[in-house]
Amino acid sequence: METASPAAPADPAAGAPDWRAILDRLAQRHSCRDFDGSKIDREILAEIVRDGTEAPSSCNLQNWHFIIVTDQERKLRARDISGGNLHFADCSALIFLCFQKGWTHGNFSIAQSVAGAAYHMILSAHLRGFQCIWNAGIGDHGQLRDLLGLPPIFEVQAALAIGRAKPTAPDMKAPRRPFAEVHSWQRFERPAICRYPVKPAKAYPFYRIRNDDNPFAEWNPARWSWDQIGDFRGYAVWAKSPLAGVYVSRRQGAATEVELDLLPDLAPGARLLEVMPWGGTYSVALRQRLDREVELHLAELSEHNLSFILERFRQEALATDRVQASLMRGGILPYPDASMDGVVLAQILEHCPEPEKLLDETRRVLKPGGVLVVSARNLWSRYGWRWARVESRAQIPNQGPFRPIPAPRLRGWLKARFEIDAEIGIGRETVEDAAVLRGRGRFFCRLYAARCVRG
Ligand SMILES: Cc1cc2nc3c(=O)[nH]c(=O)nc-3n(C[C@H](O)[C@H](O)[C@H](O)COP(=O)(O)O)c2cc1C
Repeated sequence: METASPAAPADPAAGAPDWRAILDRLAQRHSCRDFDGSKIDREILAEIVRDGTEAPSSCNLQNWHFIIVTDQERKLRARDISGGNLHFADCSALIFLCFQKGWTHGNFSIAQSVAGAAYHMILSAHLRGFQCIWNAGIGDHGQLRDLLGLPPIFEVQAALAIGRAKPTAPDMKAPRRPFAEVHSWQRFERPAICRYPVKPAKAYPFYRIRNDDNPFAEWNPARWSWDQIGDFRGYAVWAKSPLAGVYVSRRQGAATEVELDLLPDLAPGARLLEVMPWGGTYSVALRQRLDREVELHLAELSEHNLSFILERFRQEALATDRVQASLMRGGILPYPDASMDGVVLAQILEHCPEPEKLLDETRRVLKPGGVLVVSARNLWSRYGWRWARVESRAQIPNQGPFRPIPAPRLRGWLKARFEIDAEIGIGRETVEDAAVLRGRGRFFCRLYAARCVRG
């Protein structure tokens, strides 16, 4: 007797004959942030939006409204309002997802309804051969209301960008968590690695939690395990595509180059290690300035960061033949003793649960005479004050939790293990400037940075 496959449709006669092929095709969808600027016919855009309206809605009220923006000037304005979503300029259309306020708000059911319709539109666009991305990062709602002529009783939640990918756009899907991590049967179960620490509280009402005001956010990396930090950083890096120039922060300004100016010349064949490069902003700057024959080693807590950075290198047209990416577990550097000529710890110690252990490891892998270039955000600075008063009240950033380190404390850690060869403070302001201070003022800059030698 034949037994039905457990994965077959409920009623094989009623199921679409090519259901497996359709689901496989849908699973290939991934976000695009690099469009070619071409137009899509108005009729096709309307069909995609109409497909979305086949989605279920709470009480069948269909209290959604979709504004399709194709006009280039409006798209440019929407890009500027959004702040970071530069792909708004080159997509064929933006579909603003709106809803009428006043009905079915319990359990966000109006938002759930709009979300269902939005994903249906994305899948429709995908099956038709277009690329898409969902964007909650739309910027200031007041400015958007003016742009879209949206009445106060309607809310705008997000925008879908639809278009055709540039031939060179990354063709990579962001990694998915192992299925076992994200589901359980009958009762809640979830591994500790992906249950992140929060401040202890009796309850965590969602209405108290905002991006810029999260009273439960645990910024102290010492309260996270290495594995939890790696897990968080590894998925969050994919919040953007690995495109050229991604994650160059406004806070940094010209400071990155000043930090890396501390590096000595490294001879061809030398081995330089960058620890915890996250999205690869320093890795790119290093590869650009190092001799082509210098080996660049990258050690991260998650494979996902490493695949992201290697694709970013390709997008930046940088050679990867002398780049080696390795996984680092539990704060242990995966290299033999005395195997590196240089190590770069660029604003990373403040992200570590055990920063002194990482410095011990750094000393272990450096050759005698090898050089450490280290920098850290400084608590004893205007930036540190802002971090304590404003930044650390918000949600944890995608790079993971961190706490600026008082410059004298870091100096003490370095002196206990290395000879300090040069030390500077970088940046008087909270963002952007890269003023270099060498006297006592070095202890009060945004960044404290040093070049150390292993004795
Ligand atoms: C509700 C929502 C909001 C999002 N907002 C943005 C955004 O503002 N900017 C952006 O670049 N990506 C945004 N994304 C895209 C996600 O980063 C992306 O879906 C995720 O990294 C998974 O990658 P994939 O879509 O390629 O599978 C958003 C996705 C969702 C579901």
